Amino acid sequence: MWLYNIGTLFTGNRFLENANLQVENGLVKLITQDIHQPNQNDIDCGGKVLTPGFVDCHTHLVFSGSRAHEFELRAKGASYAQIMRVGGGIRNTVRATRNSSKQELIDLAMPRLARMHARGVSTVEVKSGYGLSLDSELKMLEVIAELNKLQPAELVATFLGAHAIPPEYEADTYVQHVIKDMLPAVKAQGIATACDVFVEQGAFSVNHGRQILTAAARMGFKTRLHAEQLSHSDGAILAAELETLSASHLEYATREDAVALADAGVIAELLPVAQEYLGMKQLASGRMLTDAGVKVAIATDFNPGSAMCDNLLLAAQLGITRCGLTCEEALLGITNYGALALGRSDIGSLEVGARARCNLMSSANWVDMFYDWSVNPVEKALIF
Ligand code: NIG
Ligand code: FE
Repeated sequence: MWLYNIGTLFTGNRFLENANLQVENGLVKLITQDIHQPNQNDIDCGGKVLTPGFVDCHTHLVFSGSRAHEFELRAKGASYAQIMRVGGGIRNTVRATRNSSKQELIDLAMPRLARMHARGVSTVEVKSGYGLSLDSELKMLEVIAELNKLQPAELVATFLGAHAIPPEYEADTYVQHVIKDMLPAVKAQGIATACDVFVEQGAFSVNHGRQILTAAARMGFKTRLHAEQLSHSDGAILAAELETLSASHLEYATREDAVALADAGVIAELLPVAQEYLGMKQLASGRMLTDAGVKVAIATDFNPGSAMCDNLLLAAQLGITRCGLTCEEALLGITNYGALALGRSDIGSLEVGARARCNLMSSANWVDMFYDWSVNPVEKALIF
């Protein structure tokens, strides 16, 4: 089967004009640039743009409850960190998520995933982290596994037991619980491929992060880190030290951090919607990171507290206007580099051998997906 008459094909590495792409057994088999004589099942791309399916490499999209009240408080001058310190924030969502059944969580997540897929997202990373007890963390991860079967996009699960310190624990004891009880149980069930930690003042220290991620790596998990979001807390240097797959947020990252991340091959995940949603003055510098040699992915961070928004293209648009990325870098950030942030080379690309997940755009100009903020630029999200 062929997708033919592609005006511009972005393969995840390069732009090809007037191309055709052959799909066999769900994989890209061949790319040509001649005039294709179509067969019955071939798809005419009408001279428009074809991209890899988009990869949203950082979300917290399984959750219950609303944090509209916190949004209102912030609009009156409260900060995210202040709300977190008085027991609101993540802990509010933990209460609601613990009290929800698996079916309720699935019913809440399905329309979110449908919206994302309609906008071209074919792979979504989803974190646990609103359970913070063995049973409710496993419940969240089981929901993610179930959702993977119920809709077209692929879900990649990350265990984020160290997202906040639950009210019934003191920090050090909770960290030991995560290491001794939760990680082995998650491993035994095989329901998460990576482990993440929120390193921040008021959440987990660099030492906690090191302990948890070292244990996780030893058990065979990929590792990632929330770092330098609300303050400079040395999370980026820890990511470089541990050679984690990725470090996310990075609003407060310095040039030294950027160089360390580049040297260690850590992918940066920029989350421009979250910094906008929290009204932050300190912005992540995609430019500084890229210039230092870091590969920069872009994700939504979709969650009920700091980014109640599942629109990956908006994240990419803000990555350009607020984080200093070029349009080409933004496109890489939601395709090839988003995939690398998940440790995957079979997605986010349409080179020969990659999975045939692609977006037929409604325009013949690839820049339109970033230029035009009014419409959904994806005509059809295709997964073969
Ligand atoms: O990535 N920073 C920590 N975690 C999320 C926020 C989660 C929440 O507020 O519910 C984030 O921004
Ligand atoms: Fe996050």
